Amino acid sequence: MNTVTINTLRELKEAGKKFSVLTCYDSTFSTRINEAGIEVMLVGDSLGMVLQGHDSTLPVTVADIAYHTQAVKRGNQHALIMADLPFMSDANLATLLENSAQLMRAGAHLVKIEGGAWLAEGITKLTQRGIPVCAHLGLTPQMVNQMGGYKVQGRGDAGQALIETALALEAAGASVILLECVPSDLGEAVTQAVKCPVIGIGAGPKTDGQVLVLHDMLGITVGKTAKFVKNFMLEADSIPAALAAYHQQVKSGTFPAKEHCFK
Ligand code: KIV
Repeated sequence: MNTVTINTLRELKEAGKKFSVLTCYDSTFSTRINEAGIEVMLVGDSLGMVLQGHDSTLPVTVADIAYHTQAVKRGNQHALIMADLPFMSDANLATLLENSAQLMRAGAHLVKIEGGAWLAEGITKLTQRGIPVCAHLGLTPQMVNQMGGYKVQGRGDAGQALIETALALEAAGASVILLECVPSDLGEAVTQAVKCPVIGIGAGPKTDGQVLVLHDMLGITVGKTAKFVKNFMLEADSIPAALAAYHQQVKSGTFPAKEHCFK
């Protein structure tokens, strides 16, 4: 397999082909995820919940993400590594630049940042310095307290606002948009509106890529999982087989199915 870059994702979008993304936090899974052909690994701040046992992603630090990014890099052969900027790691421009540089030094190829239209200035500064950015919109778990829970976003008038935000952040330099927990129609509209690749999680079947949290798709998450989650171990006899099935079902467009989507 060729090394995946942000250009690969753009080319796949232009060719109308899907790509798969999975969270990853260690070297062994990094190698197995590579073997399954999954194009992008996300060192997500979800590690605060699935590895550290917190009830939100807020306690995660830049040092935590850097540590796990280094481990993922060691097991990586050809996938693109995206690292999450955790809660308040973008408190001001200087902090944002330094924290992003730390994640790139740890082995990330791009950083992901949660927020809205106000991210534009930071995204421009990062891309000017050679750090590609994925803008995470819709349900942004770092805002759980402000949002009053993990709820579907972008319904009604908020949908048009979200499309405009995605366009503004692409214009500011975002290389990738990630959409979490929005109605499928909105997932499709954003994907058509922007030229850059759009990754969805609970954003319907029409986004260019799909992402899931590793522990969710292996069926080992403790507690309740979201509607958009599918346990791929139910149809597989091994972890490598489940990873391969996830990749194949995203590529073929059979995942997500109707029951994983929001109206
Ligand atoms: O931290 C994470 O794993 C994420 C995904 C849920 C998209 O941001």
